[in-house]
Amino acid sequence: MQQQPPSMWKFFPMLPIEREEHIVSLGEQFTPIVPLPTLGAEIGLPLLRMKDEGQLPTGSFKARGLAMAVSKAKELGVKKICIPSAGNAAGASAAYAARAGLEAYIFLPEDTPEINIKESQVCGAHVELVKGNISDAAKRMNQLRNSNPDWFDVSTLKEPYRLEGKKIMGYELAEQYEYELPDVVVYPTGGGTGLIGMWKAFDEMEQLGWIGSKRPKMISVQSSGCAPIVKAFKERKADSQFWEGAATIASGLRVPKAFADYMILDAVYKSNGAAVEIGEDEIVATVHELARKEGLFICPEGAAAFAALRHLLTEGLITEEDSVLVFNTAAGTKYPEVVQLKIKN
Ligand SMILES: Cc1ncc(COP(=O)(O)O)c(C=O)c1O
Repeated sequence: MQQQPPSMWKFFPMLPIEREEHIVSLGEQFTPIVPLPTLGAEIGLPLLRMKDEGQLPTGSFKARGLAMAVSKAKELGVKKICIPSAGNAAGASAAYAARAGLEAYIFLPEDTPEINIKESQVCGAHVELVKGNISDAAKRMNQLRNSNPDWFDVSTLKEPYRLEGKKIMGYELAEQYEYELPDVVVYPTGGGTGLIGMWKAFDEMEQLGWIGSKRPKMISVQSSGCAPIVKAFKERKADSQFWEGAATIASGLRVPKAFADYMILDAVYKSNGAAVEIGEDEIVATVHELARKEGLFICPEGAAAFAALRHLLTEGLITEEDSVLVFNTAAGTKYPEVVQLKIKN
C-alpha cells in the first residue's frame, strides 16, 4: 500500500503514549490550511487563512483529543469511559470508544443538536439527556460515578490526555507555516482545550528549538449568549464567573464556566491577545457569508471566529499586514439547523 498522508501521530514522540500499537485511529490526517482570497480582500486581510478541522473523523477537532484520550485509556487497561459534552465531543468519544472496544457513557444537555445524539447512539454509546447545560450534565454524571468507580472520566481537562491530542493543532500549524507562526490565531472557545493545547505546543516547540519566542496573538471568541471568558477579559480578571442562562446556536461554546478558565485567560493575556463576543445573528449571517463567498460551509463556532475579524480590525487589535489563522472547528454539515430551507411553491 502507498504511504498515507501525514497524520497527528507523526508527533507520536510528543504524545504521552508508550506504544504505537495502542493508538486508536480513525484517520486523523493533517487538516488543510485554506486561503480566503475573497473575504480577505473584502475586509482587508490579504494573509487570512482557515485551518479546517471539520475534515477530521466525526467532523470536528474533538477527534484529536478523544483519539488521544481513548488510545491512552486503552493502553492503561480502561474498559469504560464517561463524558459530559456540549455535542461534538460526544460523537467523537462514542466513535473512538467503539473503535477501541470500550463502553462509553455520555451525558448531554437535552437540547443538544440531534446529530450529536444520533452519532453517539449509532456507535453504541449509552446516552443520557439531562435538563440544563453541560454543567448540569456533568453533575448528573458525577452522581452516577459514585456507584460506577470503573468509569474513566474524560471530561474536559479533568484528565491530561485530551489536551495532549489537541496540542497537535499547534505542532501541525507550525509545520504548515514552516515554523514561522502566524501573527494571530483566532479560536472559538468553550472549555478552552483547543487554545490551551496550542499554547502548550508553542512552549514545547520553543524548548525543542523548533521556533523562537514569538507567539501569535491568541484571540478567544465566544457568543454573546455565553461569554464568561470575554467578561473576565474585559474586567482584566484572572478567572471567570459562571454565566447564567447560557444559550447559543454555537452549541460548542455553551460552557458557562470553563474548568481551566484561568489557563485560557493566561494565554490570552501573555500573547497580547483578546477575547471577543459575537451576537447570535452575526454568527448565523457569517455561516452564510463564508459559504457564499468562499464555498466553505463552516460551523457556527467557526463563524463566530470569522465574525470577530471585523471587530478586531475596527479596534486596531489586528492590522492588514498580519497573517491571521482562523480555526473552523467543525463541519457546517453537522449543524443543519443553522440554515433554513428555501422552498419554492
Ligand atoms: C465545534 C466546536 N468548536 C469549538 C468548541 C470549543 O472548544 P474548547 O472546548 O476546546 O474551547 C467546541 C466544543 O464543544 C466545539 O464543538
